This record gives sequence, C-alpha cells and structure tokens, in this order.
Amino acid sequence: MTVKMVATCLFGLESLLGAEIDKLGCKRTETMDGRIYFEGNEHQLAAANIRLRFAERVYINMGEFEAYSFNDLFEGTRALEWENYIGMCDMFPVKGHAIRSKLFSVPDCQSIVKKAVVSRLSEKYGLKIFPEDSKVKYQIEFFIFKDKATLMIDTSGVPLHKRGYRIASGEAPLRETLAAAVASIARPSENTLFWDPFCGSGTIAIEAAMIATNQAPGLDRDFAAQSFAAFPESIWKEERSKALSEINMDSQFQAYASDIDADVLEKARENAERAGVADYIRFFEADARSIKKLDCRGTVACNPPYAGERLMEQKDAERLYRDMGKAFGDLAPWQIYILTSSENFERIYGARADKIRKLYNGMIPCRLYQYFKPKR
Ligand SMILES: C[S@@+](CC[C@H](N)C(=O)[O-])C[C@H]1O[C@@H](n2cnc3c(N)ncnc32)[C@H](O)[C@@H]1O
Repeated sequence: MTVKMVATCLFGLESLLGAEIDKLGCKRTETMDGRIYFEGNEHQLAAANIRLRFAERVYINMGEFEAYSFNDLFEGTRALEWENYIGMCDMFPVKGHAIRSKLFSVPDCQSIVKKAVVSRLSEKYGLKIFPEDSKVKYQIEFFIFKDKATLMIDTSGVPLHKRGYRIASGEAPLRETLAAAVASIARPSENTLFWDPFCGSGTIAIEAAMIATNQAPGLDRDFAAQSFAAFPESIWKEERSKALSEINMDSQFQAYASDIDADVLEKARENAERAGVADYIRFFEADARSIKKLDCRGTVACNPPYAGERLMEQKDAERLYRDMGKAFGDLAPWQIYILTSSENFERIYGARADKIRKLYNGMIPCRLYQYFKPKR
C-alpha cells in the first residue's frame, strides 16, 4: 500500500530531515518551510516515526486541493477516502492552521472539515451520528497555505521531539530535534572527543551519542498510529527490532558534558541513563571559561545562555561571550559550534565564524556559528 505522508520540522531543519527521509527509502515529492511531503509504505511510516531525528510529527497525507471558499473546503474534504482509516466508532477531532489564504478563520474551517468528514463517513457507514466512543483517536489536521489545503491524520501523537528520556531539565533546554541538528552538523564520531561545556540537561551530548551509536530516537516511546487498524502491531515490532539491531553497541564514541550548575548535571546524568547512552558521556562540573584542549581530536558543540533571556542579563552574557572567545580561541584545531540567538555574537566573541547556519529554537531565530580554523 502506498502511503502519502507529510513530516513537519522546525524551520531550518528541512535539508537534514530530507536526507533522513531519503535514507528510509521514501520518495520526496515536495519541500516547503517546516514540512516535507513524501511517499512510502506502512513499514516506512512506522520507521519514519521510530527513526526520524529531526521531524516533529509524521502525518498521513489524505489529500490536497485548492480551497478558496468554505464550499471548496467542504467538497474537497468530503471527496477524500477517510473510511480507509477511520472506523465507525473511532474519535476524529479536527484542528489546523490557515496561513496567507482566503480562508483564515480556524474555528470555521475546523467545523467545516468535521462536517465534511462526518458526511463522507455517514454515506459509507450508513450512520447519522458517530458515537466516537472507541479509544482510537485519529487527529485530523488541515493546513491551508496560499489557498491550498492539505488534509492529514497525525500518526505520531506526542510530538517526536519527546523521545521520552528527558523527564528532568534545566532552564531553557533545547528541543531534542534542534539539539540533534546541532550534534549532527558537528558530526560526532568515534575518534573525536565531543564536548558540550554548557550542557544543561545534556540534550546535545545525548543526541550526539545517539547519532554516533546509530540509536533510533523513537525506540522507547509509543506513537498514535500503533492503534490504527491499517498499521498492525507486527509492523511496529518488526521496525523496532530492525532499528534495535542496527545500534552500534561497540562504539568508541566519547563525549564530555560539563556545566557550572551541579544540580542540572544530576538531571543530565539521569537523562543520559534513560536514553541508554550514559556509558558514552562523562558529566562533570566546570566553568566553560576554563576549558582546555586535551591531547586528542575534539569538537565543541554548545548552546550558551542567551543574552536577554531569563537566565542572564545582557551585560553578563556579553562578558561570558567575550571570555568564551578568549578560552575557545586556544582550542584550535578543534572545531567549535555555538548556537545562540544573540545578534552581535561574532563581534563580542571576537572572531568571524567560518560558516553560519540559520536555525529556529521554536519561534526564536538563532544561528549556529561554526569555527574550523584557528582564531585570527
Ligand atoms: C541555555 S542552557 C543550555 C541548555 C542545554 N542545551 C539543554 O538542552 O538543556 C545554558 C547552560 O549554561 C550553563 N552555564 C552558564 N554559565 C556557565 C559557565 N560559565 N560555564 C559553564 N556552564 C555555564 C547554565 O547552567 C545552563 O545550564
């Protein structure tokens, strides 16, 4: 069975997510800001949920059509084959977004979509009223962008950035998907020490260890589509055991994760244990300003406190960035990756980055400053 799918992601992660989708063997059909349309089969839908590190959710794409009026939205939605998934007693709530489109009232669109699905299923099942009393929930989502509607069913449930390991966190933790992106761009590998000197709850180091050991991010959690009749448990079992068998248990990967706050380190350690990567990460208390290069290859990847955020006043953050510039300047030839939303980071840090990548921490635009050469 061909399943049309949509995966959503934080803005800026589309190319990383696209490469992961290709690796699943799926066919990409369209990419736009924060979402990729692709095709695969039932197994690939399960694999997408279990394996995609950079996706927020995976949806079944029920269909797309132009919607300039409520009538277009109703007829377009009613024409889709909802009965292929939704049974007589299942729940099917509706939510969605409308952006830069003639149809802009989300509550109105919600009620039109609901009516259209009810109308379609009434015709198919011969029911007037749907009890929606089964435990299986098909969360319908519409996305109307520039007058084109995409109608979807969420297969992830809890968003995919919630891997399940981060019960405890410090202040301003990075979303796991963004931490995975920072880690992935820094290319964690066996023969290079990976160090996050502002580790907080440990997310970047944990995601780096999961990447280096080839551990799929969704192995320890459930997904909404596990209860869908079209995706029997055998598919999930098979895909989970395939992903499990691909973990590199003998990896020599090594990470350091340090922070100035002893309490947060305890939480980070627990998170790493829950994620199953504690053996690869050494957590310790240290001031990032006193970081010293060791006699090995190394990469530093971090997310220091942002200027202006709750954690730190502007002038304190600026002092910290200036001190970082001095301390990190001595680390060459180690590569350095610093994620921050601070506007004038390079000037304060005292060196121009060799490469900058624009990313988003939720809705906050930030940049990943990458240093590959000794400071000039
Ligand atoms: C934005 S948070 C990092 C969040 C982390 N990436 C996560 O996902 O949880 C910044 C961290 O830097 C730590 N910190 C602040 N000043 C520091 C310093 N001089 N040396 C080391 N850590 C510091 C804070 O305790 C905090 O945990």
